[in-house]
Amino acid sequence: MERLQKVIAQAGVASRRKAEELITAGRVTVNGKKVTELGVKVTPVKDKVEVDGVPLDREEPVYYLLYKPSGVISAAKDDKNRQIVTDYVETDKRIYPVGRLDYDTSGLILLTNDGEFANALMHPRYNIEKEYIAKVKGIPERELIKKMEAGLRLEDGKTAPAKAKIMSIDKRKQTAIVRLIIHEGRNRQVRRMFEAIGHPVMKLKRERYAHLTLEQLKPGGGRPLKPFEVKQLRELTVTKPS
Ligand code: URA
Repeated sequence: MERLQKVIAQAGVASRRKAEELITAGRVTVNGKKVTELGVKVTPVKDKVEVDGVPLDREEPVYYLLYKPSGVISAAKDDKNRQIVTDYVETDKRIYPVGRLDYDTSGLILLTNDGEFANALMHPRYNIEKEYIAKVKGIPERELIKKMEAGLRLEDGKTAPAKAKIMSIDKRKQTAIVRLIIHEGRNRQVRRMFEAIGHPVMKLKRERYAHLTLEQLKPGGGRPLKPFEVKQLRELTVTKPS
């Protein structure tokens, strides 16, 4: 037996909070009967849950880690028929990416059909750690790297403290490889941070998401998450509320 709002969220219809609103607004029925209280529990395979008269399509939840190549869109569909991340995972489930990487960014991205899990991981409150390797134009001064770590003023506000380290420099080509660890997930954040210090990104890769890395994978490769990895990710979204 599971809580009704959890079952709705898991089906990817809405976040758990939104699911609660759907219930209290009288838009949810269980076995044809309207339910407006929040305590109700249901048995996923037995009880027929409908939102606005539409049955929940409850799939078994699946979780994948993909090494997204650059030149691929972080979406479950694309009108222009371009390559999308779901092309790289063989499953009959309706998976979609957890958050996004830019078209030109390569690296680690998670895919799932578990809406609640995806919503929780993307919630800014949980600040999941993400590690990027950027090749940038020019060689950033130490002071600029420090500023980046302390927080930069971007058009959508100051960035939270981060960690940055120059890994190598190429004096002849005037480029540097910088490792950047951030907790936020704003749109194009890494590129905007480097732009803000005057060293635009030439190439970007996400190497780590929480405890997960690209170990043993090549671009385009992926694997299902192990149950303990899913559990660890889940724990990050319940034990660290701010
Ligand atoms: N930051 C960016 O600028 N791009 C990404 O794809 C991810 C983080």
